[in-house]
Amino acid sequence: MKILVTGVAGYIGGTFAYESLKKGHTIIGIDNFSNSDKSNIEKLIHLKKDKFFFSELDLSRSKDELVALLKRENPEVVVHFASLKSVSESEAEPLRYWKNNLMSSISLVEAMIDCGIKKLIFSSSATVYGDSTEQPIKEEASLMPTSTYGSTKIAIEYFLNDISKLDVIDIISLRYFNPTGSHGDRVIYENINNDPQNLMPRVVRVAMGKDNVIKIFGNDYKTADGTAQRDYIHIEDLVNGHMKAIERIKFMKGYETFNLGTGSPVSVLELIVAFEKANKLKINYEYYPRRPGDVEVCYADVSKAKDFLEWKTEKNIEEMCFDALSPFKY
Ligand code: NAD
Ligand code: WQD
Repeated sequence: MKILVTGVAGYIGGTFAYESLKKGHTIIGIDNFSNSDKSNIEKLIHLKKDKFFFSELDLSRSKDELVALLKRENPEVVVHFASLKSVSESEAEPLRYWKNNLMSSISLVEAMIDCGIKKLIFSSSATVYGDSTEQPIKEEASLMPTSTYGSTKIAIEYFLNDISKLDVIDIISLRYFNPTGSHGDRVIYENINNDPQNLMPRVVRVAMGKDNVIKIFGNDYKTADGTAQRDYIHIEDLVNGHMKAIERIKFMKGYETFNLGTGSPVSVLELIVAFEKANKLKINYEYYPRRPGDVEVCYADVSKAKDFLEWKTEKNIEEMCFDALSPFKY
């Protein structure tokens, strides 16, 4: 199958492209390197230079080039990972976030319609649920963004839902919970050198001796150990969810959303203990006040993805922790 992948130089798009190439698909990749560099592109070319083709372009500004590319390549499906994704940055630079994330998605959809390309998978996020009291969270829960980044994801979902009613394009939005770890082949992995804000890359930095201690933000939550709970999902399971969505969308009409998580909450402390066990080392931590904007608990009800995508996760938290560190160790 020929798949167009936006954001292909990034962590998730790069891992998806890597796994797709291994499965024999052809990948047409797009990125503007606003949050990445050429290293993943070089690795993907090295893996399959006859099946991987890359165009450097900014989706939010290059509608004509995009139309030309889609006309020439005529992919069967588009997987749209490209986005700015930092919560804190989105608060500091809301205009850049709205412009980039919205305009990219609008240009892409417009170009797809112009070229008669009918199937789209969109990277959404559990951040659309905000501070939901309903746990585990179902897809139909209320959407309450707590950041500009979250608002852009919700706005794109509403836009895609409206567009799907035209009956010319069928769309799946996948709401990722907390993607983590690296592909077990250790070729594509998460960048830990760009001031990461997420827990796992920060723990990896401590394990690598790049930082001395991990700050645990809050130990006064109403959870068993007082630290916040999330639904961490191994990147390979997440990518596999996209493979299932691609199969499903061939026979689907309209618009659907699916949660991609494990359905099991894990606290910050539990993740650190799992990391120590999986990698046989000690992680120093210190308690700090809660991080502004953080929610106490967030985990997925994954029954819809299980039923409709026939998908389930396979990797546990220790495997995520092992695979997060292994590309830097071996
Ligand atoms: P990433 O930053 O590693 O990759 C995103 C890529 O998109 C980058 O390479 C960036 O350069 C590119 N990009 C951004 N704007 C672009 C534009 N206008 N034109 C072309 N390329 C552009 O992020 P990721 O972690 O791989 O995330 C992929 C998707 O998954 C994003 O949509 C993100 O919002 C979503 N998501 C990520 C997480 C997470 O924790 N990583 C969680 C939920 C949802
Ligand atoms: C997890 C827990 C922190 C770092 C964010 C975005 C969300 C999504 C995924 C894209 C929290 C705690 C963290 C640290 C810590 N991204 N923590 N010390 O906040 O659930 O989600 O990334 O869509 O939109 O908001 O993930 O990994 O940042 O934090 O104690 O150094 O770890 O306070 O409780 P989060 P996270």
